[in-house]
Amino acid sequence: NNLSSDSRGALIVLEGLDRCGKTTQSSRLLSYLEELGHTVESWRFPDRTTNVGQMISSYLANKSHLDDHTIHLLFSANRWEKRSLMESKLKSGTTLIIDRYSYSGVAFSSAKGLNMEWCKAPEIGLLAPDLVLYLDISPENAAERGGYGEERYEKLEFQKKVAQSYKTLRDASWKIIDATLPIEDVEKQVRETVLNCVEACVKGKPLSELWL
Ligand code: TYD
Repeated sequence: NNLSSDSRGALIVLEGLDRCGKTTQSSRLLSYLEELGHTVESWRFPDRTTNVGQMISSYLANKSHLDDHTIHLLFSANRWEKRSLMESKLKSGTTLIIDRYSYSGVAFSSAKGLNMEWCKAPEIGLLAPDLVLYLDISPENAAERGGYGEERYEKLEFQKKVAQSYKTLRDASWKIIDATLPIEDVEKQVRETVLNCVEACVKGKPLSELWL
């Protein structure tokens, strides 16, 4: 059993409500891991650069209307179009830090009233994160942070439902971090958790798939 041949990068996902601080933490984590000499990339979903991503972007900006099921499947397709690249990056030793993933997909769509099992189905077979960092903030608190923007989901009542949906999605890969702490304190917890995770992946922790 040759551990070194199974060595790989880690799949690290950041999740949370809009304005929880994911973007700040993911860019800080990127520099931190780079400084330690790791090969690392920062990705985000939706990836608005693809054709599917442009349909999603126009929907989020309220420039187009789509049925709730249709937009759900587009978000999922947007992850599927990156799946093989994701796998090859991880296997070649690149750690990926991803801002939003399937948990956002299910939390936001089920907050609209779609059946949760139906929402999870198209995510089955995507790569499972090694670690989900959930930046925990109350919807009220998030709303106070400079207010929400113009996008479709950035409304307090809706974010409350999203928070509820996220709660039912927690699993063993989740680390819940209090996102109301000062940025540096959040960062410290992120770093500690991530280092353990990266180490396990270097040692050959096997890749697995959602949602089985
Ligand atoms: P994002 O681009 O992270 O937001 P921002 O423009 O604030 O940086 O995500 C846009 C919105 O899309 C966000 O409200 C969460 C939502 N979303 C879904 O509904 N389903 C999904 O699968 C994903 C990835 C995001």
